[in-house]
Amino acid sequence: MHATPRKAVIPVAGLGTRFLPATKAMPKEMLPLVDKPVIQYVVEEAVASGLTDILFVTGRDKYALENHFDTSADLESRLEAKGDQEKLDLVQAPTELGNIHYVRQGGAKGLGHAVNAAASFTSDEPFAVLLGDDVVEENSDLLKTMIAVHGKTGANVVALVEVPREEIHKYGCIKPAGPEVDGVIEVSDFVEKPKTELAPSNFAVIGRYILNPGIHELLAKQEPGAGGEIQLTDALAKAAREKLAGGVVGVVFRGERYDAGDKLEFLKATVLLATKRDDLGPGLMAWLKDFVAKSK
Ligand code: UTP
Repeated sequence: MHATPRKAVIPVAGLGTRFLPATKAMPKEMLPLVDKPVIQYVVEEAVASGLTDILFVTGRDKYALENHFDTSADLESRLEAKGDQEKLDLVQAPTELGNIHYVRQGGAKGLGHAVNAAASFTSDEPFAVLLGDDVVEENSDLLKTMIAVHGKTGANVVALVEVPREEIHKYGCIKPAGPEVDGVIEVSDFVEKPKTELAPSNFAVIGRYILNPGIHELLAKQEPGAGGEIQLTDALAKAAREKLAGGVVGVVFRGERYDAGDKLEFLKATVLLATKRDDLGPGLMAWLKDFVAKSK
């Protein structure tokens, strides 16, 4: 068995340009899905998967996010005075989610650069990376499965979703080294946003990773790639092709997942989460049915 990751790195230093103007002064990770910021779902998932130390890689103007995971003495004492325990619990929940740490990326120079800003935090241990705007269904065991696969193989582990052929050009795609066995695929290479006819598979990479400490060395040497940024995928491609830092395997995820940094996906996630709630679901479903019927 290989060492079990305890630490999670959550990069949140991106500019969120797809969501302007909402993200001009507010981090996109703080946009609410129903009544909870996207980032809280991500941190809850990390903690539920057994990760105890969370490092946010932040940038400028991310104070709202830092405040969300800190105590709010004034608000808490007002709610206490009112005897509103239910709301007090909601306010206190994010502060009780494990040990939270911060490091500044020093400029949005790419996801690979953000992950490398965590090098001294993760040190010589394997660690998880969760993208701060990628949401998977609540109670999903994706991350736990990835940790188990890492324990067995010692490889870097990426999360994969199977997408329709005509959509693969929007994603980072893997080249499989063999067939899927029990939901796991060995990866021999990655292709960023391939043309449909050139895509080596229909498996797209999503924002969950278990990485070996050796990835930092590859990232440190990595030249800027797409968009002039240091890309995590480029370092993983090298690890996969040359079997470095433990090589790469993929875990196929067949549950619900949303890129909350994309407007349409964000809307879908909002509706999905709201329809699952007892307080909002029935009212929203009834309205949706009526709305769709009238829109025909
Ligand atoms: P995205 O590419 O979705 O983020 O990165 P972005 O650049 O903020 O978004 P758009 O495309 O301009 O709308 C995925 C995750 O990686 C983080 C982002 O904050 C996001 O959570 N990231 C990205 C960093 O932390 N640093 C970077 O340099 C780039």
